[in-house]
Amino acid sequence: MKEKCCPQDFCPSGLKPEQAARIVEGLNIYLANLNILYIKLHNFHWNVIGTGFFPLHEKTQELYEAIAEELDEVAERIRALGCFPLASMRDYLAIGTICELPGEEYPSPFVAKVIIEDFCTMLSLVRRIDSIVKETPDQCTAGLLADAMCFFEKQMWMMDAYLTRC
Ligand SMILES: [Fe+2]
Repeated sequence: MKEKCCPQDFCPSGLKPEQAARIVEGLNIYLANLNILYIKLHNFHWNVIGTGFFPLHEKTQELYEAIAEELDEVAERIRALGCFPLASMRDYLAIGTICELPGEEYPSPFVAKVIIEDFCTMLSLVRRIDSIVKETPDQCTAGLLADAMCFFEKQMWMMDAYLTRC
């Protein structure tokens, strides 16, 4: 009989159910944060003000488009692990660790600072999930997380360089 994994009986990853469940627990928090960030980056895209309006208006669009692709990758990885991705804003806000902001004006240096802080939070979370993944043979999730670390590290460097003269 086929070995069962998470709630489903089809799990292409071949991980033990408890291994998959631990990884998915972390991935769902990551997915929640990505969804919150997707909205928050739109907030900044619309409401940034000041001399940094044009670069940050453009940059935030580049970032939320990248985040949109990443959240789809993460949700589909959770499915390939035989589990279900969280799929409601209620669930995302319940387990996410990124704070939303109200829709109002935000000066460009503040926007850059908050993006750096939020990406720092994402990086710590991704590294934590990666340490769990490294105890298993799950190379696909490890690859996904490695790409995510590169993305957040690079964007933090760029935003910090921008903020220096902002
Ligand atoms: Fe736009």
